[in-house]
Amino acid sequence: MSLWSWLCNLASKIPTSAIGAITGPAKELSGAAKDITSVRRDLVETQIAKKKLEEYESQVQRANFDDVKEYDPKTRHIIAAGRYEIRDILGRGGFGTVYFATDLRTGRQVVIKRLAKGGEPLALLNESTVLRRLSHANIVALLDVIEEEGATELVMEYVEGRTLDQIIREHSPSELMPFLLRVLPQIASALDYAHGLRIMHLEVKPANIIVENDGTTKLIDFGIARMITGDRGTFAGTPLYMAPEQWTMAGQDGRTDQYALGLVAYQLLTGRLPFDGHTMAEIGRKVLYEPPPSPLLFSPELGARVEDIMRRVLSKNPAHRFSTCSEFAQALIAGLPQ
Ligand SMILES: Nc1ncnc2c1ncn2[C@@H]1O[C@H](COP(=O)(O)OP(=O)(O)O)[C@@H](O)[C@H]1O
Ligand SMILES: [Mg+2]
Repeated sequence: MSLWSWLCNLASKIPTSAIGAITGPAKELSGAAKDITSVRRDLVETQIAKKKLEEYESQVQRANFDDVKEYDPKTRHIIAAGRYEIRDILGRGGFGTVYFATDLRTGRQVVIKRLAKGGEPLALLNESTVLRRLSHANIVALLDVIEEEGATELVMEYVEGRTLDQIIREHSPSELMPFLLRVLPQIASALDYAHGLRIMHLEVKPANIIVENDGTTKLIDFGIARMITGDRGTFAGTPLYMAPEQWTMAGQDGRTDQYALGLVAYQLLTGRLPFDGHTMAEIGRKVLYEPPPSPLLFSPELGARVEDIMRRVLSKNPAHRFSTCSEFAQALIAGLPQ
């Protein structure tokens, strides 16, 4: 079997949930915030809280998100682990739900990442194991790990801002340059730091990057992160942001994340991705066999230096890319037309 037909065969067997987190920001629930003192009075035992959370989830699941305002948080007292009051849903993906919550002990705003029913528990365990080891200004901080009834839930700092994905959707390509200048060095620094600890993120994409109002940018979602081992890699990620070596399951390292960061930069420069398609096979074929279209085709003012840098970061062969993500970020920013 040729590599390509083997790959297509493999790809057809992989459920969408395993190939990329499909998340979207849920519409905001009612703005009505519960009075903290009444919440304190209503602290319930963990078991009861869990049950309420499940009821709440099934109700939200049944709801059309346009009607979600009907679910009035005032009537609910959902406390996770006897400590975290659930207030809103920030996102839900194939594998779980991300809640916005208040830590009743400290008053701090947090997020809780919780596995969906029937989800893969190892994903959250993996994420907590990885995040425990990371402490960086541009990486979301893990605050607590809740272990209840054998399930793991992650409590993380709440990063108040917009995902880069939202920002891209809300702006025309010509307005994205200030975001590129701010976001790229920060995410490059976060990735180089993780790579220094031999951790690869493997799902660098705009939906996993949050930009705060003051421009501070944080990398989130280490759900499929792995250690750099030198062995064969895995077939996991979000297809549009997967490097060639993720498609072929060849060796993966920090340069795999650098490629994805290159795609994010390409998107911020041109408003589009170099490779897309209607099926996984179409995307994979382009990623493996086609050169990326020059960004000058879409934004001619960028100039030949940017074209060279983008060609290098998107090399099929990782050895031809930059040695670090920061080296790429610095080269690109220095290469932009003045
Ligand atoms: N720490 C956080 N602060 C604010 N929003 C977050 C945070 N973590 C996740 N989110 C929101 O929830 C969405 C899904 O979270 P993520 O960790 O990417 O889960 P998934 O694995 O389902 O993609 C994100 O795209 C973002 O909108
Ligand atoms: Mg995600």
